[in-house]
Order: sequence, then structure tokens, then C-alpha cells
Amino acid sequence: MAFVIKINGNAHAIDADGDTPLLWVLRDVLGMTGTKFGCGMALCGACTVHVDGVATRSCVTPIDSLGDSEITTIEAIGMTAAGARIQKAWLDREVVQCGYCQSGQIMSAAALLASNPHPTDVDIDDAMSGNICRCGTYVRIREAIKEAAQAS
Ligand code: FES
Ligand code: FES
Repeated sequence: MAFVIKINGNAHAIDADGDTPLLWVLRDVLGMTGTKFGCGMALCGACTVHVDGVATRSCVTPIDSLGDSEITTIEAIGMTAAGARIQKAWLDREVVQCGYCQSGQIMSAAALLASNPHPTDVDIDDAMSGNICRCGTYVRIREAIKEAAQAS
């Protein structure tokens, strides 16, 4: 089937089955490999994108559920105010280790700050609890989110 999906401000014509996960389209059809495949079961957060600003696991989001929604991926999150602050704080705090989980972490953190500019520790833990980091960068992630919040 033919779908038109809005990603990072651009409309993409996609010919795929409606139950194809958005993650597959991003990576395999459009070559946007910044969004990562981890578990494929909504358990790790590596594939997180924004759907109308809401952090969403793209591995379990079929493209026929998207309608006219605006998708934002890691490739464009720096164009948003919250995303730019998060990315700067990530660099300042040297958050990244192997990096595999980090695009998903940044997408969840940016969605949090966009909806809640001054999150508490509990807010941060709630928003980030679905993003797994095998390198254990959780302490630096929390520090970076706080730094980004102070910059707003
Ligand atoms: S790949 Fe989607 S949550 Fe793990
Ligand atoms: S930085 Fe390696 S899995 Fe998170």
C-alpha cells in the first residue's frame, strides 16, 4: 500500500504493508539509521522517536497508525529548542559511552523537557525508565537532563 509519512518536516511516499513498523521504514526504506533497533518489542527504548511530540517506540508503531502525525527523529531533534538543549548538555556531560542506546535516550529526554521544562528527579525517572543503557550511563543522563532544564 501507499502511505505518505511526515518525517522531520518532509513528506515521504512509502510503498509498504500497513503493519510495517515505523522503525523498519526509517532504517531500511529511508536509510535514516540514527534510530536504533534494540529489542523490537518496546522493551529497550533504542528506537524512540517523537510522534506529534510524544516519545514513541517506533519498533511497535505500524505505519498505518500514523495518519497525518508529524514524526521527529534523532536526525532533526537538534532543530527543536528542547532537543538542542539536551544535545548540548549531553556533550557537556560526556554522557555517551558505546552510544547504541543514546539516540533513544535523547529522544525521550527531549520529549520530557518539551512537556515539562523543569522536571523533578521522579519526573526524570518516570520519563526515562523505558530507555535501557547497557553501559550504565544513567547518572550522567540525569545530570545532563538537569543541566538542560536549567538552561531553559
Ligand atoms: S527496539 Fe523498540 S523498544 Fe527496543
Ligand atoms: S551508551 Fe552503550 S548502551 Fe547506552
